[in-house]
Amino acid sequence: MLTGVVLMAAAAAEDLTQHVDVFMGTENGGNDFPGAVRPFGMVKLGPDLYLSGTDAYSGYLPDGNFSGFSMMHEQGTGGAPKYGTVSQLPLIGDITDPLSNITVSRSGTDTGSVGYYKAETGDGVEVELSASKRAGIYRYNFPSGSTGNVLVDVSHVLPSSRGQGLSQHYRGGNITVFSDGHYEGAGVYDNGWNEAPDWTIYFCGYFDSAATSNKTYTATGADTSVEQDGGFASSSSNYTRIGALFSFSDSEVISRVGISWISPEKACNNVNSEIPEDTEFESVVDDAVNEWNTEVLSKITTTNTNETSLTLLYTSLYFMHLIPTNQTGENPYWSSSEPYYQDIFTFWDLFRCSTALMQILQPTSYEEQIRSLIDIWRNVGYMPDARSSNYNGRTQGGSNADNVLADAYVKGVRGSVNWEDGYKAMVKDAEVTPVNWPIDWMAPDSSTHDGRSALPDWLEYGYITPNFSRAVSRAVEYAYNDFGLYQVASGLGKTDDAEKYLNRSRNWRNHWNPEVTSLGYSGFVVPRNTTGFVETDPLTDSGYWGDPYYEASSWAYSFADVHDMEHMIELMGGNATVVSRLDTMFTEGASGSSGTIFDPTNEPMFNLPYLYNFVGRQDLAVSRSRKVAKEDYTTGVSGLPGNSDAGAMQTWLLWNMIGLYPITGQTTFLIHSPWFESMTIDLGSNKTLQITSTGGDGNGDSDIYVQSLKVNGQAWKKNWLTWDDIFAEGGTLEFELGASAVNWTTGALPPSPAS
Ligand SMILES: *[C@@H]1O[C@H](CO)[C@@H](O)[C@H](O)[C@H]1NC(C)=O
Ligand SMILES: *[C@@H]1O[C@H](CO)[C@@H](O)[C@H](O)[C@H]1NC(C)=O
Ligand SMILES: *[C@@H]1O[C@H](CO)[C@@H](O)[C@H](O)[C@H]1NC(C)=O
Ligand SMILES: *[C@@H]1O[C@H](CO)[C@@H](O)[C@H](O)[C@H]1NC(C)=O
Ligand SMILES: *[C@@H]1O[C@H](CO)[C@@H](O)[C@H](O)[C@H]1NC(C)=O
Ligand SMILES: *[C@@H]1O[C@H](CO)[C@@H](O)[C@H](O)[C@H]1NC(C)=O
Ligand SMILES: *[C@@H]1O[C@H](CO)[C@@H](O)[C@H](O)[C@H]1NC(C)=O
Ligand SMILES: *[C@@H]1O[C@H](CO)[C@@H](O)[C@H](O)[C@H]1NC(C)=O
Ligand SMILES: *[C@@H]1O[C@H](CO)[C@@H](O)[C@H](O)[C@H]1NC(C)=O
Ligand SMILES: *[C@@H]1O[C@H](CO)[C@@H](O)[C@H](O)[C@H]1NC(C)=O
Ligand SMILES: *[C@@H]1O[C@H](CO)[C@@H](O)[C@H](O)[C@H]1NC(C)=O
Ligand SMILES: *[C@@H]1O[C@H](CO)[C@@H](O)[C@H](O)[C@H]1NC(C)=O
Repeated sequence: MLTGVVLMAAAAAEDLTQHVDVFMGTENGGNDFPGAVRPFGMVKLGPDLYLSGTDAYSGYLPDGNFSGFSMMHEQGTGGAPKYGTVSQLPLIGDITDPLSNITVSRSGTDTGSVGYYKAETGDGVEVELSASKRAGIYRYNFPSGSTGNVLVDVSHVLPSSRGQGLSQHYRGGNITVFSDGHYEGAGVYDNGWNEAPDWTIYFCGYFDSAATSNKTYTATGADTSVEQDGGFASSSSNYTRIGALFSFSDSEVISRVGISWISPEKACNNVNSEIPEDTEFESVVDDAVNEWNTEVLSKITTTNTNETSLTLLYTSLYFMHLIPTNQTGENPYWSSSEPYYQDIFTFWDLFRCSTALMQILQPTSYEEQIRSLIDIWRNVGYMPDARSSNYNGRTQGGSNADNVLADAYVKGVRGSVNWEDGYKAMVKDAEVTPVNWPIDWMAPDSSTHDGRSALPDWLEYGYITPNFSRAVSRAVEYAYNDFGLYQVASGLGKTDDAEKYLNRSRNWRNHWNPEVTSLGYSGFVVPRNTTGFVETDPLTDSGYWGDPYYEASSWAYSFADVHDMEHMIELMGGNATVVSRLDTMFTEGASGSSGTIFDPTNEPMFNLPYLYNFVGRQDLAVSRSRKVAKEDYTTGVSGLPGNSDAGAMQTWLLWNMIGLYPITGQTTFLIHSPWFESMTIDLGSNKTLQITSTGGDGNGDSDIYVQSLKVNGQAWKKNWLTWDDIFAEGGTLEFELGASAVNWTTGALPPSPAS
């Protein structure tokens, strides 16, 4: 343990942000946000690119023109863009019609590093950005001899061209320029992926140079967004666009802008307290670098010096900390002594890998996040599965906050969490069908706003009929959610509830049709109505909001209920069949078309490579998962296989580096194999987990098989361990690795508490 402490002290002095590539995963659907941000920061200041027909989910695109540089973004999400609000746009020369959807072209490639972003417009304006938690700073360099202008277009949002009715709209606002030259105002917007009603953000901006002129403008017209979306009833095209144009003779102009969900005064207060007048631009960048090093990057240190590996490690750590947003003190809807976090996008993506790692790396924030979830239930009736612009939704599957609370509970998150209330919030999910309003036209049968809207069937039949969309994928998630209730009920001594929810957690089995076959395997979860099973093709029947399976097929969803693995293995026909069924999913062309059935681009498949541990083939978990990690994840702009989804993808990769895999809702961690000779994880409260390996190549590329393992100095024969073994008080893992697989595990298999 002493060496761990010494290593960390040495590493703290090192600037680990040098290993963060803020453009990694920005393309190829990764949608990472490359702009300036602090850990969990409310301000995410970055560019908004406009390219007809292409959605800029996090604002950035490698192509297109700048429509603005705005203060608010999400991280790595798909679905439809959200935010892109509170913007500035630098313009040159005489601007006669500023509210006419102006975009400016780009000169060269944008660059950036932690806490810093730089772009150049086709007009030759250099734009540099940095951010504190609730404010941002812009530095413009206008070409000499020209009039530089900064346009503040209150109506600016990120549009969507997908034609799914999810485009955001500007719904009104105001801006006032004061005699000292600073401006304040508000913008109102709606919709986006979560189909949110009107929400308001306030802003307050200063310029450090005196303007030569300032003018406010209004314009009436249609939506700033490209899409004409007929699907969202509450949107109106009646509004007055509003903005201001500031002109300057100085070539360098610095602007400081604060935002607030409460009032323009608070927005001014946020910027003046975090980036006071006369703050050097560089000092904001330096503070950002320090904060990322201290609060995030130094949590994991390694002796590895391979730049590819270090970039993957530190860039992944970085991108898992952009959202949720810590909005404590910035909640427009209720006041409370509890912390407040939002921009949860979404637990459907995050509950397998991210929340478990968040607890380990950020125990203080994680306790606040759990308290915030419970406080959201107290004040709006349900915990969110997703939440942005302070509005729950949309819920793709189960009420997966239940999984998150269960995981936190069994791993000892206590502090100021009121667990009696936490459990009540979970019971609400499990028992009370949410009102189906507002109606989601992509799934009109039942609410996507919050809770579990297919509960009527789940409670009456123990399965979900095709009366409800996403019936099968929701059923397997509801079962997992009910297992979460069992865990917390057990811990709180509510034995009747515990038994009831444990039984309900087995109801995924009601969708199991032993007769249906696919590629020679029988038994899959299938649609079921009150007459019986409904015919389906487990390989191809994968769909979207209105379909029986959401975004993955029955091949994946049949493996979802890992709390009941032993029974699942029996249903599938035993160990050998499960091994070959998993093998089939990782075999190129096995389905008759190119690629594998295993799909690294989406979260429902995250667990699959690791499930070999449940059938005594830990070696295959190592080789399959490592192949995915090394082939589907790379450095560079196309480095992610799919949407980052708030860092979910990055946390899958981090667990592969660590050599463990969490089973959410239980204290179990499956053991596979670590990449590095040495990795130290700072667990907080002066505790560390030290993971060492010998016999590997030090980089996880070859000699990856476990030969032997010691846990806290003792020989270890199981292919799993628990929270208490190494995390509660810290610990050590000493792996011996080698080129060939050996059967080093003889101990008990990972638990299947529902079986
Ligand atoms: C701005 O774009 C919207 C949507 O494409 C369009 O309806 C509107 O006419 C445009 N405004 C101007 C001034 O070009
Ligand atoms: C970008 O702006 C330039 C110059 O105004 C224009 O010619 C070009 O068509 C624009 N490109 C896009 C993708 O809007
Ligand atoms: C600006 O708009 C916000 C949001 O609608 C509103 O609360 C506020 O009163 C308005 N302020 C002014 C000065 O009109
Ligand atoms: C900017 O606007 C304010 C208030 O509207 C005014 O007092 C000030 O003189 C203006 N400054 C310039 C340079 O036009
Ligand atoms: C738009 O404004 C016009 C004129 O004020 C009004 O007649 C119309 O009902 C409004 N439409 C909507 C959708 O609010
Ligand atoms: C660094 O790691 C990468 C990826 O694992 C590997 O391809 C490369 O050979 C390594 N470089 C060195 C110098 O070991
Ligand atoms: C979250 O924000 C609040 C308000 O700024 C702050 O007091 C708290 O320490 C923050 N939480 C973390 C984990 O930084
Ligand atoms: C499905 O919905 C229809 C129409 O609302 C209803 O008549 C029927 O009873 C429902 N079926 C089940 C199994 O609940
Ligand atoms: C159940 O589905 C089957 C096959 O689609 C259909 O024939 C049957 O009528 C359905 N039963 C009910 C009660 O909807
Ligand atoms: C499955 O494999 C495990 C580990 O090798 C073994 O303990 C278990 O008995 C096997 N189950 C069956 C049904 O063979
Ligand atoms: C961690 O160790 C330092 C130095 O020994 C000590 O001052 C501090 O109180 C410890 N913190 C905790 C949370 O135990
Ligand atoms: C481990 O044992 C299993 C079951 O006995 C066997 O199928 C497998 O091939 C063995 N693996 C290795 C790497 O020897």
